[in-house]
Amino acid sequence: MEKEQARLRIAELSEKLERWNYEYYVLNASSVSDAEFDRHMNELIMLEEEHPDLRLKNSPSQRVGGQVASEFKKIPHKRMMLSLANAFNEDDMRDFDRKLRELLHKDVIDYMGEVKIDGLGMSLVYDRGELQYCVTRGDGNVGEDVTQNVVTIRSIPLHVSEKRPFEVRGEVFMPKASLDQLNKEREEKGEPLLANARNAAAGSIRQLDSRIAASRKLDAYWYYLVNALEVDQHVHSDSLDYLDKLGFKTNPERRRLHGIEEVLAYIEEYTEKRPTLGYDIDGLVFKVDDIDDYDAIGYTAKTPKWAIAYKFPPMEVSTKLIDIFLTVGRTGRITPNAVLEPVRVQGSLVQRATLNNEDFIKDKGLMIGDTVILRKAADVIPEVVRPLPNMRDGTERPFIMSENCPECGKPLTKVQGLHYCLNADCPSRKIEGMIHFASRDAMDIDGMGDKVVEEFFGEGFMTSIPEIYTLYNHAQEIKNLDGWSDKSIDSLLNAIENSKGRSLEKLLFGLGIKEIGSKTAKNLAKRFRHLDAFFNLTEEDLLKVEDIGPVAAKSIVEWFANPEHSQMIETLRFMNVNFDYLGNDAADASNYFYGKTIVLTGGLEKYSRQEMTEILENIGAKVSGSVSKKTDVVIAGSDAGSKLTKAQALGIEIMNEQEALSLLEKNNG
Ligand code: IVH
Repeated sequence: MEKEQARLRIAELSEKLERWNYEYYVLNASSVSDAEFDRHMNELIMLEEEHPDLRLKNSPSQRVGGQVASEFKKIPHKRMMLSLANAFNEDDMRDFDRKLRELLHKDVIDYMGEVKIDGLGMSLVYDRGELQYCVTRGDGNVGEDVTQNVVTIRSIPLHVSEKRPFEVRGEVFMPKASLDQLNKEREEKGEPLLANARNAAAGSIRQLDSRIAASRKLDAYWYYLVNALEVDQHVHSDSLDYLDKLGFKTNPERRRLHGIEEVLAYIEEYTEKRPTLGYDIDGLVFKVDDIDDYDAIGYTAKTPKWAIAYKFPPMEVSTKLIDIFLTVGRTGRITPNAVLEPVRVQGSLVQRATLNNEDFIKDKGLMIGDTVILRKAADVIPEVVRPLPNMRDGTERPFIMSENCPECGKPLTKVQGLHYCLNADCPSRKIEGMIHFASRDAMDIDGMGDKVVEEFFGEGFMTSIPEIYTLYNHAQEIKNLDGWSDKSIDSLLNAIENSKGRSLEKLLFGLGIKEIGSKTAKNLAKRFRHLDAFFNLTEEDLLKVEDIGPVAAKSIVEWFANPEHSQMIETLRFMNVNFDYLGNDAADASNYFYGKTIVLTGGLEKYSRQEMTEILENIGAKVSGSVSKKTDVVIAGSDAGSKLTKAQALGIEIMNEQEALSLLEKNNG
């Protein structure tokens, strides 16, 4: 009986807590005190601890965090998570409207205007009235299961009255006030400040410890009911009202707009209103309101054609150019950098900006001490636009490019307007080279970032890439440095040891050969399989590889011809660093559709044709528009017409969408 009582009490507490959460976090109107709320929450947590079997799947106790994951599970999106095409001005917007009017044969189109919050796109999946999981956008096809973190956002409903399955998408973000508060706390603790709200939100959601996510004061707005028609919603604005009714937090700044003139007026209004909002927005979103028109309007590979993002022009602010300092990259290239009086632009704190090269500074006529215009668009690195010469007071001084390396003092060499330090022993080049070697896309040595490399270099523990692998000789000395424990040294040495087994493309990229990015490195590794092969390659051999042009080909041949580099490779070999390509071609090749030519015809249900094309191409199939003898498989949806007939005539393999999907899934592991 006691158990029965507990069950009832758990249900009662859960219901109350969720109702209060909704009142407080969605409606902004609470009917209980914090103390009352906490009392109920604590009672629930205690009861659940006493009776773990009675814990409800979506218990409100999850809201406080506590689960710690070791990694995030990958979850494929049922429908691809698309992004939006951009518009930058009135002309783009008028174009968008005109094309739609022509296509739909309408004089005026109704749109929904919404603000575009700069946060983290998220999808929530519900079934039988319960939240099933929350998943990030990922690459659009597959995201990560971050449920345990997202449910700590208390405005997100765990239960809803709609019992049919549905998926809702929106944006998780950090309000300006939360970011300011978080940064204040970090400053007090001497921790680095978070530069902007978007990174802060993304970082919080990617925490493996959900208590940290819970402490971050994130919020979310929901703006897209993915399978609206399946829950009888035919109009986007109605679907948002419906989400409201189900308990989701939708953005009140939205407005139904009749025709392009009202759209343009909304843009004007929100350009003004933007700074007064409690969160950063980088644009506005306009969607055709009539969902029944969506299929007719269609999609491109990555975006729906029934919606568009209007991006605000980059924001400009003025600040002072305090100084210019030079840095040395891993290739020896010298870059002048601006030291700026810190300014806040579009949610980011800016105090440095690249000035690219000497000519950039000369062309703009920049002087040290100038007041300058700084421009920053969301997601884009800050740019010094021009000086304001009228603001000069005579204390400004011209920038004079140094003739010597700021690090090693050796004379610089000028090649095509750019300065280089060609001293292979230049400390900066060596440090940058090691940082690059250890970086995520290269050998991925966890725990060996800029600061650590700089510190160890300074102490003389490692001065070149191969010496990373003899760092264990200095374990005792490292322990004497501030902030190192046996445990942290162990884990770093382990990470170093593990990196020896990385596949060739990572090593190739890590070596820092000019012009070789990670994608090119992958193509090269796949093609040549072993590091030793590169010593015998000619430029002609290399030109045959995808994405390799004459400049890259020359750079590779020169790099391997350099005796210092072959010496380094011999040392790495001696250390047992893997030189083989370990990529699993077979995994791709094991998929049924790999390497085949596919034609899609008729109406597909689960994915749009564009989405299906992308999925197939991603696993190495070729999708073609017409049936010929070269076609391997025709995937036929509903009402397939002449292509299907032709395929039958040619005896080509034909399958329906369901069969195709199960073949795709089968070999996807
Ligand atoms: S609609 C198919 N509406 O912006 C429709 N997106 O650049 C997909 N975003 O990936 C998105 N506010 O993460 C939509 N009111 C809004 C939005 C919004 C922000 C984000 C979203 C999307 C990205 C596209």
